[in-house]
Amino acid sequence: MISKRHFVLTEEIINKNPNISTYSSPSLEISQQILAAEVPKLAMEAASKAIQEWGQPKSQITHLIFSAGSGMEMPGADHRLTKLLGRPSVKRVMMYFQGCYAGGTILRMAKDIAESNAGARVLVIISDITLPTFRAPNEHNIPSLISKAIMGDGAAAMIRGADPNVLKERPLFQIVSATEKIIPDSVGAIKGHMHEAGHGIHLTRDVPKLIANNIDKCLAEALSPRSINDWNSFFWIVHPLGNAILDQIEIKLGLKRINF
Ligand SMILES: CC(C)(COP(=O)(O)OP(=O)(O)OC[C@H]1O[C@@H](n2cnc3c(N)ncnc32)[C@H](O)[C@@H]1OP(=O)(O)O)[C@@H](O)C(=O)NCCC(=O)NCCS
Repeated sequence: MISKRHFVLTEEIINKNPNISTYSSPSLEISQQILAAEVPKLAMEAASKAIQEWGQPKSQITHLIFSAGSGMEMPGADHRLTKLLGRPSVKRVMMYFQGCYAGGTILRMAKDIAESNAGARVLVIISDITLPTFRAPNEHNIPSLISKAIMGDGAAAMIRGADPNVLKERPLFQIVSATEKIIPDSVGAIKGHMHEAGHGIHLTRDVPKLIANNIDKCLAEALSPRSINDWNSFFWIVHPLGNAILDQIEIKLGLKRINF
């Protein structure tokens, strides 16, 4: 998987479009114009690297699953990307504005597609540009400031398949299990809304605690069928997004520190 740091919002754009940097002036339209071109462009950079590492002709890509936090349009960024890739007959799925939920979800969808279509090679891409969340701080909206502070722009891409041709392909990871669980009492903990002034992301203070109170059950559900129940016995990662979340998980699961 490839990821890339990228900054679309420049001083020049802000100076030309002052509404972008106020707290609540309308700026969705200008964001949209910028993003319609930039989201697929950023995705293409990540996709090109993933395809290059994979080493196979792009004509072997059968499916495209694309997630973007912003830049909704119809046809979508996936359509623009098929043009950039020169693959008009690829089977596409597009998901917009689903925040962090999108990352695990598109990997799960890619697993399902790859495992139920012989020979499928799924190009999975996420391209997120946070321009619509950019605004001046407001003392009555701390969550908006927090989301802006901890989120950034970037893209990642991977090729997902099943039954690799080991003479030509070198699989790096295997997705052995994918589960999903909506944790109790979590409604409203993380919310996103679209306004004329851009996207509003709301995070409550409870997010780290909600995750910590449920992480063991989620892990057990995903990994017990594979007889893994010691969270210190294998290498795993958690989607971070905030030191408070990582700290709470570490405490709750009794994770031991290791020195690399
Ligand atoms: C935001 C964060 C990185 C700040 O970490 P930090 O610098 O170590 O500081 P703290 O966690 O002590 O928080 C600092 C202050 O911000 C407040 N704060 C934290 N999250 C808040 C939220 N979502 N809404 C309002 N205030 C919040 C804390 O209550 C604290 O206030 P206090 O000083 O009055 O006690 C950390 O709180 C965090 O990781 N939060 C989780 C972020 C999250 O929800 N991620 C998922 C997004 S998809």
